[in-house]
Amino acid sequence: MTTERVLRAGIVGAGWMGKTHAEAWRANQGRGELVAVADMSEARAQELCDQFGADGARAHSSLEALLADDRVEAVDICLPHHLHAPTILAAARAGKHVLCEKPLCLTLEEAKAIRDGVGEAGVTYMSAHNNLFAAGLVEARRVLEAGTLGRVQYVRSTEAGHNANYKTRRPPVALAAGESSWDWRADPGKSGGGCVLDTGWHGAYRLLALAGSRPVEVAAMVSDYYIGVPGAEDTGAVLVRFENGATGYLFTSWAFGDPPGSFQFQVGAENGVLGGTATKVVYQLFGEQPVERELERRNTFAAEVEHFADVVTRDVSGLATWEHAARTLQLILGAYRAAEEKRTITLPEDPLSL
Ligand SMILES: NC(=O)c1ccc[n+]([C@@H]2O[C@H](COP(=O)([O-])OP(=O)(O)OC[C@H]3O[C@@H](n4cnc5c(N)ncnc54)[C@H](O)[C@@H]3O)[C@@H](O)[C@H]2O)c1
Repeated sequence: MTTERVLRAGIVGAGWMGKTHAEAWRANQGRGELVAVADMSEARAQELCDQFGADGARAHSSLEALLADDRVEAVDICLPHHLHAPTILAAARAGKHVLCEKPLCLTLEEAKAIRDGVGEAGVTYMSAHNNLFAAGLVEARRVLEAGTLGRVQYVRSTEAGHNANYKTRRPPVALAAGESSWDWRADPGKSGGGCVLDTGWHGAYRLLALAGSRPVEVAAMVSDYYIGVPGAEDTGAVLVRFENGATGYLFTSWAFGDPPGSFQFQVGAENGVLGGTATKVVYQLFGEQPVERELERRNTFAAEVEHFADVVTRDVSGLATWEHAARTLQLILGAYRAAEEKRTITLPEDPLSL
């Protein structure tokens, strides 16, 4: 009988996503376990260890202490955006595998340093692209790959909703009195942008996954209708041309989402059309009856942690690689430039240039 290799992880950042990821590690008992948590608030780190950690899980008050913890093989980064690049690099230097929340980082220079640092250390890097594991998107990609719909010619992806909590700074999980997960987002020096880089990141990597091709041109408009963070948009409309000729449209907003019942993503192809949500896919070949599939909702965070454990311990090829994330960053930074310069931007073959 073979025993399953269990990946020992440490989370850095015990806020909103830190808690969600801790639950996800707990849900993967037998494949992975949470052996440490670090946060500036050691009390918050301790709480996650107590609630979701393996026996003897340790709370640390700094990244350095967590990286020095021999039990930790992989670091799961749930920190504000400006800390992603330095933390990924420090973890790689310490020989730890890395799962990091979106976005990959804030600049293409940082993305290059991450590629080099992770490569030199010989560790695995995976971006926390949890929506790749939503049942609807998995099924849609299966249908597209089966080929009956033919060549993909149009893709649309929406990641949007009325974010009243951001507006009022009401924290999504309990932090200390006076602290809010929205505070660092309201500082463009820490968030790196607004809704397009933050929430829109999910819509952007979904768009790339559906198009199955690299983006070559981008045009965009950004607006602020509701949140009112100086220097950061709350709404973005982004048009993309892909190398395979497909046209893409990304809509993202903290002001409003699509009306209830709308598809979250949509594909127009040579032989038919497809639409989907997290739990549903509908497709129709031209002239035929639509095929509708209702799917069981998946915990996308638990699925993402399971995939990370598979990539590290079973050598499964990764879905949310550095390349996928760097291409997403190139598209989003290109969209910002397009909006600012009011023109269409060409996206070079090299994901590290614009
Ligand atoms: N996938 C999703 O759906 C989703 C949803 C929300 C957030 N996120 C991402 O998760 C990440 C974290 O966002 P959040 O909303 O959880 O933030 P948060 O503010 O709720 O939590 C951040 C935590 O990091 C800690 N921290 C900050 N600086 C630190 C440092 N130098 N050392 C140690 N700890 C430090 C804070 O004390 C806090 O506990 C971001 O990248 C965000 O984009 C993803």
